[in-house]
Amino acid sequence: MTAKFITLEGMDGAGKSTHIPTIIEMLKAHGREVVSTREPGGTPLGERLRELLLHEAMHAETETLLMFAARREHIANVIVPALARGAYVLSDRFTDATFAYQSGAKGVPADKIEILEQWVQEGLQPDLTLLFDVPVEVSIARLAGARSPDKFERESVDFFTKIRNAYLERASKNPQRFRVIDASKSLEEVAEMVKYIIATI
Ligand code: TMP
Repeated sequence: MTAKFITLEGMDGAGKSTHIPTIIEMLKAHGREVVSTREPGGTPLGERLRELLLHEAMHAETETLLMFAARREHIANVIVPALARGAYVLSDRFTDATFAYQSGAKGVPADKIEILEQWVQEGLQPDLTLLFDVPVEVSIARLAGARSPDKFERESVDFFTKIRNAYLERASKNPQRFRVIDASKSLEEVAEMVKYIIATI
């Protein structure tokens, strides 16, 4: 197993977080420590920024900068130390989400995000990214059941379509790192696909 830094991506409602326990279990079976974390968040400051990001209206570039501020803390305090001591890191979202949401859906120029990516990540990239892909209608139908949607989850069909397209474009440009999972299938079928991918990395 060579992939050490694994990220999960997808639209809200794609169901990615449901599969985290299975992935952790499989990675632990290799006898290694697993650090399961998320973005925005993953550190005390990052979690405070998450509260602001998910509930306060702000300019799309402010949002981008705060995502990267939280990411800087996350990389310095959690991701890099964990990788350095030989742990696997499983992050529920990372920079692909910024390209999909802030650039794809909200129009922040991708080259501005690339500058922040280089600055903050200093070459760090996930080894493997699982993209949970669902048609927009499926995502919206699943979110309709959510009790108190955050500001991202209240967005329009057009917004979600842009996110999906941006994610799929990033996946097709980085095929060595991405595995696209058809997350519209049943929970059991998606779990099988996830297990297959993790077993073969
Ligand atoms: P979550 O619901 O998967 O935890 O993600 C929280 C929300 O934050 C989700 O709607 C996507 C959004 N988000 C961005 O817009 N940009 C980012 O860079 C990240 C990491 C998340």
